[in-house]
Amino acid sequence: MAKTSKYHAKNPGPDGQISWGLDEHKIWKELFGRQVRLLPGRACEQYLHGLSLLDLPSHRIPQLCEIDAVLEKHTGWRTAPVPALINFSSFFELLANKQFPVATFIRSREEFDYLQEPDIFHEVFGHCPLLTNTSFAHFTHTYGKLGLAASKEDRIYLARLYWFTVEFGLVNTPAGTRIYGGGILSSPGETLEALESQVPVRVPMNTLDALRTPYRIDIMQPLYYVLSDFDDLFTMAESDIMGLVKHARKLGLFEPLFTPKSAQVG
Ligand SMILES: [Fe+2]
Repeated sequence: MAKTSKYHAKNPGPDGQISWGLDEHKIWKELFGRQVRLLPGRACEQYLHGLSLLDLPSHRIPQLCEIDAVLEKHTGWRTAPVPALINFSSFFELLANKQFPVATFIRSREEFDYLQEPDIFHEVFGHCPLLTNTSFAHFTHTYGKLGLAASKEDRIYLARLYWFTVEFGLVNTPAGTRIYGGGILSSPGETLEALESQVPVRVPMNTLDALRTPYRIDIMQPLYYVLSDFDDLFTMAESDIMGLVKHARKLGLFEPLFTPKSAQVG
């Protein structure tokens, strides 16, 4: 996790509303317009259903209370405005309380295509649609509770599971492989790469393997884990994840499929 950011999150006013500038709304509009065109036939149906429930505005950055009204109705979740970067403890504590952290800044035009910090477009467009889904919401809530109780060392293993599911997960469906990871769904380049490129490896989801797989945050992913069914997230949440973390720690990490220089381990 990066320690500093050039971005500054905006604080909500007393009414909970955030005041965005015209150019910030314009960046949202352009990101939204470009990404929404790529979704049909690529995003999983649970995500698309959630996106229609949220009914996000295309031309302006939504206020978090608009999203909360939908999430609370479907799964009891809501968003929490946070600074550009938060530590593991705050992150897990929010998830354990069914609050999804949303950094309240939007990327600059210089980083229009890619940025390492999760901005409001990534959090809202990438993740919030699936927080209307019971299996995804249960997995994310369970993950938060486990992470909150976990040791610093175990949290680094848990971070890999989040990365290969919530951020960069794929799922098999009768219509073909689809995307559910928000890191992919908020990135036009990776939306195409994850499904259509011959470069990355796609392997069946296995919790123990995911816990042992190193990743980097600054490259297109060389490997994606594919769920056999979306509701496997619910089953995974009910499995002994911390037992698997202990096992993974004994077995150690796999060799990375990328240049280890500047490898990301948590
Ligand atoms: Fe994310």
